[in-house]
Amino acid sequence: MKFFVDTADIDQIKELHAYGMVDGVTTNPSIIAKSGRDIIEVTKEICSIVDGPVSAEVVALDFETMLAEGRKLAKIADNIAVKVPLTWAGLQTCKALSDEGTMVNVTLCFSANQALLAAKAGATFISPFIGRLDDINLDGLELIEDIRTIYDNYGYDTQILAASIRSANHMSDCAKIGADVATAPPAVIKAMANHILTDKGLAGFMADVEKAGIKIL
Ligand code: G3P
Repeated sequence: MKFFVDTADIDQIKELHAYGMVDGVTTNPSIIAKSGRDIIEVTKEICSIVDGPVSAEVVALDFETMLAEGRKLAKIADNIAVKVPLTWAGLQTCKALSDEGTMVNVTLCFSANQALLAAKAGATFISPFIGRLDDINLDGLELIEDIRTIYDNYGYDTQILAASIRSANHMSDCAKIGADVATAPPAVIKAMANHILTDKGLAGFMADVEKAGIKIL
C-alpha cells in the first residue's frame, strides 16, 4: 500500500520522507489555509521534495473555473494530481483534465455510487473519507470494501486513496481491504510503529546488555 502524507507542513514531510514513508502528498483547502502559505508556492516546494503524486485542490465550484484552476495547478510540476470535489462540475473537470493526461484525485467521496462515477470519469485516484463517515456513525471502512469490490468487478484503473484517516488501525484495515493508497496525517503514520510490548522487550534487552557488558564497537 502506498503512503501519502496528508499535510502541507514541509518539515513533517521531510522527516517522514527521510524514512521512506512518503509515496505522495495530499492537501486540501483547509490544510493549505492552516499552512498560512500561498497554495502555488507551498505546492511547488512540496513537489521539489516528493517525486510521487502531490494533490492540490481547486477552489472553484463551476466547471470552467475549475478547469482553468486545474490547468494552472498541473503546470506546477509533472507529479501534480489535481484534486476536484465529487460534484458534476468536478466530474466534468476530471474527464477534461484526465483526457489531457493530467492526474486527477476526486475527493469528498462518501458513497460507492460516487466512486463509480469517478472511475467512469477517468479519475486517477478516488478519495473516500473514512473518518468523516465514522464521525456520523456510518462505516467508513465498509465504503472502502464496497469500492474495492466494484473496481475489481470491472477492472477500473482508478486507485482507491483512502482518506480522512484518524488512526493507525485505519491504516492496517485499509491494507487488509486492499486500498491502493492511504493518506494520513504525519502523527498517524508515526503511531503505526508504537507497541507497548516492543518498548518492554527493548528495555529488557538493554538491561541484559548492561548486565552482561555486551559491546559491539
Ligand atoms: O485531505 C483529505 C482528507 O484526508 C481530510 O481528512 O481528517 O479532514 O476528514 P479529515
